Amino acid sequence: MISRSTIDTVFETARVEEVIGDFVQLKKSGSNFKGLSPFTDERSPSFMVSPVKQIWKDFSSGKGGNAITFLMEHEHFTYPEAIKYLAKKYGIEIEEIEQTDEQKDQANARESLYLVNEYATQYFHNNLLKTDSGKAIGLSYFKERGFTQETIEKFQLGYSIDSWSAFTDQAVKKGYKLEFLEQTGLSIVKQEKQFDRFKGRVMFPILSMSGRTLGFGGRILTNDKKAAKYLNSPESDVYHKSKVLYGIYNAKQSIAKEDNCFLVEGYTDVIQFAQRGISNVVSSSGTALTPEQIRLVNRLTQNITVLFDGDAAGLRASIRGVDLILEQGMNVKICTFPQGEDPDSFAKNNTLDVLQTYLAENAKDFISFKASLLTKEADNDPIKKADTIRDMVVSISKIPDHIKREVYIKECARIMDISEEVLFNTLAQLLQKDATQASKKNLAPQKAFDVITTEKQAVKKTDELFELERKIIEILLLYGALEEDFEDLILEANEQGEISFKPEISRNKVFEKIYLDLQDDEIEFTNTTFKAIYTEIITQFNQGKDFQVDIFINELEAEQANLVSDILMDDEKHALHDWERMEIYVKDKNSGVAQIVSETILNLRRFLISLKIKDLINSPVENGAYNDRSVLETVKDYNTLHSILSEKLRRVV
Ligand code: CTP
Ligand code: MN
Repeated sequence: MISRSTIDTVFETARVEEVIGDFVQLKKSGSNFKGLSPFTDERSPSFMVSPVKQIWKDFSSGKGGNAITFLMEHEHFTYPEAIKYLAKKYGIEIEEIEQTDEQKDQANARESLYLVNEYATQYFHNNLLKTDSGKAIGLSYFKERGFTQETIEKFQLGYSIDSWSAFTDQAVKKGYKLEFLEQTGLSIVKQEKQFDRFKGRVMFPILSMSGRTLGFGGRILTNDKKAAKYLNSPESDVYHKSKVLYGIYNAKQSIAKEDNCFLVEGYTDVIQFAQRGISNVVSSSGTALTPEQIRLVNRLTQNITVLFDGDAAGLRASIRGVDLILEQGMNVKICTFPQGEDPDSFAKNNTLDVLQTYLAENAKDFISFKASLLTKEADNDPIKKADTIRDMVVSISKIPDHIKREVYIKECARIMDISEEVLFNTLAQLLQKDATQASKKNLAPQKAFDVITTEKQAVKKTDELFELERKIIEILLLYGALEEDFEDLILEANEQGEISFKPEISRNKVFEKIYLDLQDDEIEFTNTTFKAIYTEIITQFNQGKDFQVDIFINELEAEQANLVSDILMDDEKHALHDWERMEIYVKDKNSGVAQIVSETILNLRRFLISLKIKDLINSPVENGAYNDRSVLETVKDYNTLHSILSEKLRRVV
C-alpha cells in the first residue's frame, strides 16, 4: 500500500492541467483551459480544465473531477495506479506500507494483468541486453536492422528466449499467478503444461498513452513460412487492439507540438522514423484502422498523414481508413513511398533532411492522391475515370464540415476536369442516401425512446429533492465558512390565538446554521453521494480546519469528486458557451448568502413534509390506517407545518 505521505505529496505536486495536457490538447480560454472531450466524439470543445480550482469538467459526457479521477476515467486506472502514475510523472518516490494478505488478494485482476505485462516487458528487455542468447540472437537482429542502443531502450524492445517455457517458469517463480499469465496471453496453458506464446521472437511492447504495457507484438527470426511473421497478444481486459496505436506513448508530445501525426503500418516503421528524428508517428500494427484509434490521435491533433508502403496491394486495403479519418472531421494527407520501399527502409537509408523533404513534397491531400492513383492505373479509360470521380465524391461526402466539402468539390472538378454542378449533384445524392439509411436505422429504437421519456417524467419528483440537496452542498462548498446574520422567524400566538412571526437574529457560520437546522429536523440526505460529501464537509468544518475546496476535492472518491466539480464548474459552463449568467444568484450575491441558506433549508423541509403527507395519505387502507385518528391528526399537523413553512418562505424571499 502507498503511504499517506506519498499520496499527500502527489496531490500537492500534481497540476491537473499538466496531467490532462498529456492526453488532451488544451488551449487557454480565459482563466481556464479547454479542449475536445476525450470521452465523446465531439468536434467543438466542451472539455474544461480549471487550473485555479484544480478540477476538470467534460460537459459533453458529464464527467468531471480532479487529476486522479481524470486518470481513472481516461486510462481506466485504479486509485493506486493513478497515484503511482503521477508519482512517476513528477519524480516522487513512492513509500510503500506493507500490505496484509487480504489486501494483496484484493488487488484487482486488471492490476494483476498490468503487473504481469510490466514484468514481462522488463524480463524480455533484460534477456535482450544481458543474456547470451538474447545478445547473440535478438540484439544482433535489432542491430542489423540499424536500431541503436538508445532506440532499443526507448521502445523497451526485448527478446523471448527460444525455449518452451522459460518466461512462464521464471514468472511463476517470481510469484505471478498462472491465471494472469494466461489472461495476458503471454503463457499458453494446455492441460498440465505451460508454454511461452512468444518463444524465440523479438518483442515489441505495446504501450498505452500513459506508458503502461498493454500487450506485445513478437517478430519471428526464422524463415519459417508456416509461422506468422508477427504474433500479437490476444485481446484481454487490458489489451483491446482496436483501441491502441503502437508508439503513441513516445509520440504524443510531438504529435501535439508538430500538430500532425504520421500513421504507418508497422512496428519497425515507427521505430525507424523516431530514430531518424521524426517522432510524431504511430502505427495501427497491421490491423485496419478503427474510429477509436483515430479518436486517440484526434485528442492531440486534427491532422493525419497516412504513409503507405510502395506496394499497391497495401494501398487498396488501407484506403478505407482515409474515409474513416475524414468522417471524424480530421484533415488527412497521404504519402506513398517508392516501389519496394516502406517507411522503415526509407528512413533507414536516407538522412533526416532527405526524409523531411520527401514527406513535404509527396504528401498529397486525398483528392490529389486518388487522382494520382488513376493516372497510374488507366489513363484513358472513361469507366475507370468515372469510378474514380465517384470514389472521390464518396470520400468528400464523409466530411462533416460543409465549407470544407465545397472546397474539395471544386478541387475535384478542377483536377478531374469535370463540371462542379455534376459533382454537387452526386454529392447531394450521396448525402441523401446516407440520411435515409441513418433514419432507417433509427426507426426500430423509437419505441424504446418513448419508454425513456415516460421514465424521465417519473423520476422528476426526486429531481427536486436532488436539486435541493445539491444546492446545500453548493452553499457549503462556496460559503461554508462565512459568518452571517440569520433571521429566524419565531412563531408567536397572542391572546386571541392569532399567530404571527417574530424575527430573531442570530449570528452563525453558514455551515453551523445548516448543520444545526438539519439536525433539528433530523433531515438526512437521500442521495448517498451527497450524504457522504456533506458528512465530510461538516466534519472538516467542525474540526476547525481551514476549508479549501481544491484540497478537499482531492481527498474525495471519484464519484464524489465528480459531483463536487459538477457543482463548482456550473459557472464555467456558462462562461464556456457565453451564455447569460442566469440563475447563478448564489455566487454573485455574496450579501444574500444568509437569505439563500434560509430559503434552501425551508424549501427542503417543506418538500420533505409534503412527501410525508403523501406517504401517510397513501398508506394502506386495509389495516384501517387511513381511518386511524392519530394518522389524520398527524396529517393535519404536517399540513399546518407545511403552511407555516410556506408563509416563512414568502417572508424570506
Ligand atoms: N503484422 C501482424 N501480423 C503479421 C504480419 C504483420 O500483426 N503476421 C503487422 C505488424 O504490426 C507489422 C505490420 O503489420 O509491423 C506491417 O507488416 P509488414 O509490412 O509485413 O511488416 P514490417 O513492419 O515491414 O516488418 P518487417 O520489416 O519486420 O518485416
Ligand atoms: Mn518492413
